[in-house]
Amino acid sequence: MRIAIGSDHGGFELKQALVGFLSGEGNEVADLGTDSSASVDYPLFAVRGPRGVASGRFQKGVLVCGTGIGVCIAANKVKGIRAALVHDETTARLAAQHNDANVLCLGGRLLAAPMAWELVRLWLTTPFEPRHQRRLDMISELERRGD
Ligand code: RB5
Repeated sequence: MRIAIGSDHGGFELKQALVGFLSGEGNEVADLGTDSSASVDYPLFAVRGPRGVASGRFQKGVLVCGTGIGVCIAANKVKGIRAALVHDETTARLAAQHNDANVLCLGGRLLAAPMAWELVRLWLTTPFEPRHQRRLDMISELERRGD
């Protein structure tokens, strides 16, 4: 799978670990920064991957900041993006099953790397349940109308 990943400084360490895990499983991973623990502004790094997902360049995106909240808010400003902030197995699974989330957001200061990797794997491997498509279409319509 072609996966874009990005973070701010608060998510840098976890991002590095996830790049390793994702690449190790044979995914084509594009690391879109940040490149160190130096302080940066998360909105800049939260839209690079999602823009590539929206255009079809990447199939999925992963974002990490301190809490996952900031990158999630920013990513959802990109048309076509359904970014989900997840904290545990249930939210990771349902983000795929119910919301067909195309971007996963994680809190680098909240999750240990093995747990975060488990959540990414669950999200990547859980199929979307088509009975929820009607709600996703309603979200697309909200986006189209711009209200
Ligand atoms: C940066 O200190 C922090 O605010 C950021 O990583 C994130 O948690 C924002 O939502």
